[in-house]
Amino acid sequence: MLTFLHISDSHISGDPEYNPPWETAPSPHPNLGVERLLAMINRLPFPIDFILHTGDVCADPRAEDCRKARELLLQFPGPMYCLPGNHDSAELMIDLLHDGRRLHVLRDDHVEIAGYHLVTLDTNGAGNGDVHAPTISDPQIEAFAERMKATGGGPTIVAGHHPLIETGVPWIDEGMRVQNGERIHRILRRHRDSLAGVFHGHIHQSMNTHSDGVLYVSCQSTWTNLAGYPGLGENERDDLTPGGFNLVMLKGSRSFVRRYHLARQ
Ligand SMILES: [Fe+2]
Repeated sequence: MLTFLHISDSHISGDPEYNPPWETAPSPHPNLGVERLLAMINRLPFPIDFILHTGDVCADPRAEDCRKARELLLQFPGPMYCLPGNHDSAELMIDLLHDGRRLHVLRDDHVEIAGYHLVTLDTNGAGNGDVHAPTISDPQIEAFAERMKATGGGPTIVAGHHPLIETGVPWIDEGMRVQNGERIHRILRRHRDSLAGVFHGHIHQSMNTHSDGVLYVSCQSTWTNLAGYPGLGENERDDLTPGGFNLVMLKGSRSFVRRYHLARQ
């Protein structure tokens, strides 16, 4: 059995006074959520194989945010695999976070962990920059298809930052999703018998979508969470749902996902 924790959207900041520019009211500091997450993970009564962070590690693509992220994330148990989100600089993460032992930064990659393939897609596409609803290029999609083929039908986990397929929530589908994600879904569908799930973040809420035999799982942010419901056309805060993480246990063809919520202070 493979056991891992899925975390996302920590938005770690090197600025002790950080308040997001789009918020007019004071917001809780994102590093507090990471400290709460660490305390909770340290109390878990079971071992884990690794932690998967599906992006927006940092609040902004700045070196001081990346250095603070390294300081905080090195305190977590086990190796951590981090993907860049739209708030990150992948280059800075590789320079300042990645050490290849405790902290791994993955973009368009394929690594093997305890008999499983982890295939990642940098859903920011070619550019850095804050793109909420990117379009992935043909060469990047073709390279992803090749990486999936290279798994040879072995058990596989796929991860990226943005959601790929439609959910039914207009704000997510039109404003937060990979706009040509269906093309990637068609590749994933071909591998559904060996695919444990597609893990992502970006939408700051926990959500499962199951389509054509492919399971998509998103994770809450450790900081602030957002709403998703039929007809929601604009980003809306969900202050009733605390941050958290997913426990994922994989065995054979079974994918088990349990949500943990961070204790409120
Ligand atoms: Fe985020």
